[in-house]
Amino acid sequence: MRARLLTLFTAIATVLAITVPASPPAASAAAPRHRVTYDHYSVMIDGKRVLLRSAEFHYFRLPSPDLWRDVLEKYKSAGFNTVSLYFDWAYHSPKAGVYDFTGVRDVNRLLTVAQQAGLYVIARPGPYINAETTGGGFPAWLKNVPGRARSSAPGYTAAYRDWLGHINKIIAPHQITRGGSVILYNVENEYAMNTDAAYMEDIQKKARADGIDVPTMTNNCCDAASWTSTWASGQGAVQIPGVDDYPQGFDCANPDASWGPWGAGLTERLRDDTPVFAAEYQAGAIDPDNAGFDKCRELTGPKFMKFFYKSNLISSGATAFNYYMGFGGTNWGWLAQPNDVPTSYDYGSAITENRLLSDKYDEFKRQNFFLSSVAPLTKTDPVTAPASSDKAIETVARANPDTHTQFVLVRHSDHAATTDDSATLDWTTPDGHYSVPVRVKGRDAKVLIAGYDLGGQRLVWSNSELMTHVYTEGRDVAVLYGTDGTQGSTVLRYASQPTVKVLDGSVKASYSSGDLRLDYTHSGLARVLISGGGRRPLLLLLGTDAEAAKFWQAGPALVRGTSLVRSATVAGGTAYLRADTAKAEDVEVFADAGRLVVNGSPVRTRVTASGSLVGTLPGPEAVHLPALTGWRSKAESPEAQPGFDDSGWVSASKTTTESPLKPKTPTVLYADDYGYHYGDVWYRGRFTGTGGETKVSLNAFTGKRGSYLVWLNGRYLGSAAGGVQADSDSPVNPDPGRGDFTIPAGLVKAGQPAVLSVLVENQGHNDDWIADDNRFKQPRGLYAASVEGSTAPISWKIQGVAGGENLVDRTRGPLNNGGLYGERQGWHLPAYGDRSWTAGAASQVAPGVTWQRTSFRLDLPKGQDVPIALRFGGPVGKGYRVQIFLNGWNLGQYGGDIGPQTDFTLPAGLLRQHGRNTLALAVVARTDATPAPVSLVALDNERGGVPVSDVPSPSSR
Ligand code: GAL
Repeated sequence: MRARLLTLFTAIATVLAITVPASPPAASAAAPRHRVTYDHYSVMIDGKRVLLRSAEFHYFRLPSPDLWRDVLEKYKSAGFNTVSLYFDWAYHSPKAGVYDFTGVRDVNRLLTVAQQAGLYVIARPGPYINAETTGGGFPAWLKNVPGRARSSAPGYTAAYRDWLGHINKIIAPHQITRGGSVILYNVENEYAMNTDAAYMEDIQKKARADGIDVPTMTNNCCDAASWTSTWASGQGAVQIPGVDDYPQGFDCANPDASWGPWGAGLTERLRDDTPVFAAEYQAGAIDPDNAGFDKCRELTGPKFMKFFYKSNLISSGATAFNYYMGFGGTNWGWLAQPNDVPTSYDYGSAITENRLLSDKYDEFKRQNFFLSSVAPLTKTDPVTAPASSDKAIETVARANPDTHTQFVLVRHSDHAATTDDSATLDWTTPDGHYSVPVRVKGRDAKVLIAGYDLGGQRLVWSNSELMTHVYTEGRDVAVLYGTDGTQGSTVLRYASQPTVKVLDGSVKASYSSGDLRLDYTHSGLARVLISGGGRRPLLLLLGTDAEAAKFWQAGPALVRGTSLVRSATVAGGTAYLRADTAKAEDVEVFADAGRLVVNGSPVRTRVTASGSLVGTLPGPEAVHLPALTGWRSKAESPEAQPGFDDSGWVSASKTTTESPLKPKTPTVLYADDYGYHYGDVWYRGRFTGTGGETKVSLNAFTGKRGSYLVWLNGRYLGSAAGGVQADSDSPVNPDPGRGDFTIPAGLVKAGQPAVLSVLVENQGHNDDWIADDNRFKQPRGLYAASVEGSTAPISWKIQGVAGGENLVDRTRGPLNNGGLYGERQGWHLPAYGDRSWTAGAASQVAPGVTWQRTSFRLDLPKGQDVPIALRFGGPVGKGYRVQIFLNGWNLGQYGGDIGPQTDFTLPAGLLRQHGRNTLALAVVARTDATPAPVSLVALDNERGGVPVSDVPSPSSR
């Protein structure tokens, strides 16, 4: 029966296809120029006030440019009108003076995609960005440049000016003043400690010289007490100073902890002639304690968003918000700053690392649609709030001085209260005096509105929250919502009694002296059609939070249902949607249209009593992923053997370093000093034996989660945890990563050469959060080395990534590889011939490095988005880590020493969705270990998505 219906449906669709064009007429490509200004209240574009609703996006954490469009469209669909973009200097520059802006680094393309997605851009090129990215965005070669970073020291100045010269040249043509969509330029990042005003000033001079003419801004951090300057005035001042706030902190292990361990989260006003700007506001969390990002999502979930974002809107009067992050992404390669994050930078964001929409996304929709549809919010002053009859509930209010529309924040007086409380507000609205019942159930906050010209209507007040309203088919359609099961009332003003028709649900209407009052319980979705009374008709949709979340506001249409509406246009009586569907389901469209086309296919529709169109969208085809079989494996670490030929290695013979930490060895052994900045490095130290050696003592910096492995004359001596950044912001720990290794008797012979081989992981570079070279220029690699029972000098050689700073793999870039033997030989690359390797996955590995390779074919259904991850089974393995290479791209590290992560995102584009893929796993074991089994998992399946082409991935060198 179902099959018959499907056939019938297809036949109808085919007939319709002849008459209805599959896509709307193309928009004109003209690029008008605009002006950005601002005043006390808001930013303005061409004199028109805009409320900036921005979320942060890190293109460098999504190495598949076609997916940038997917994520940015999802931002737009959540009601954001702006995206904030950090530009990561380290990602583009392998060597001083060398930059790459192609392929996955093509930020010119990124800026074009952002504009096409309908988003303004806040450009944040640093030079310093923090962002838990290696070195906080500083390339590691900068550690070798004399002069304190983030200051006006000449060496640093020359370096950052060069970077800005390159990135500004790409940003400038994308400014709104030249037909693009960049509206603000962020100077530095949370530059609050050890500041240098001449440096702040020079960044701006450089920007102006490079053609940046949109307003400059900055994101101040911390708490007012630690600000050296807010950059609101004086030397180095920016035009619009903003404030960062992470009120909920990063304790993801305790998602139910009390509100605001790090403060009330209210954005300070820093100047009278600029708007209050929440330049970076918490929308997720890093996970320094390895609780897992789902917990971070809970910590910063809808309740947090309701409470803090609404408080900030009404208590602070902010009209510009940038939420950090909207989508976090992946620390692929060696992108992570080692102290706070593992491979995943999911961040507990509204959009997950695998690009799925969470309940936080729903809350962004509820809030953003309100902010975008209610223009009076762009200009408000604090006013006296209506008194609450119960002290358990408090109110805060603002009003627009021109329209007098009032906005009242209602929440618990005890901000952390989880009780269910009710009160009556004694509310003098612009349209009269009212007693308004309110209820706050659990941790919640509401912004109620009074005295608002809602399209052609007059909203006197409502204790439901307004989500959005549109004008379509000659009537206003408004969506209001409230907590499930709570009472709701809405009062509208009419010249005479209107006709009220309850189409759905249970709603009581009463009319008296111009006021139409509707009373209802928030439950499901009620529909009320009001006509007459001297106004154009109004369709009121009264729902719960969950019902409100089903709506999409796209272009001229309001759409209900389906998992995502990317865009909507109406032309010639047809509504054209681009949408994703996770299962066959109804979609309802409120638009000036009698026909519906979704993703290019006509959809059979019927007209509802609400005047909307309803049609059924097909779901995706089922997807079957192949099992991973056909493994081959091979152990390496030949560097551990005394006879290994290291004649091509660099002698570690330097005696000076720019690192403030001076080595305890006669020569400098720091990897960065020899141009080996990322991933693993090998050391080989030769000395002549005395026969009396008893112990090797080493000390190495690896960054948190790192360790080093030690061999003497080919014998494995063991491993130690590497040094990390001191937990506090104090200077480095004097004995950071010490390891003592007993030498078995007879291993070193008197008068004979001995070889120490050490494999040191580099888990990434410290950030420079407090502008302190002690932190940023903390070395990686060996710091101390001695042999007890011997005073013989040790001569060291060092080996890291092939080519050092002279990139060998320019496509995958500077952060993809380190110096494992297999990486240097190209074992991670698809074309490498592994036929001579041992068949089967290694069930047991010895200390050192073992590789496993296999390949698999995919042929996913076209027109579907299937995010796929590599899943490690069983309990998280300890004593070893696994570096994951997909088609040559280093997509992260698994292992109990690293964190709890077991799913590793394989982004479409790097993952060939229609073709052969090569997986190579480098297992670096500190002990004998049994590597966890791996499999492919589909984390979602949507019909729709965006077209994704394969990212060019050279299969050999
Ligand atoms: C801010 C910083 C961001 C990011 C965030 C924490 O202080 O500006 O770059 O590091 O903290 O995730």
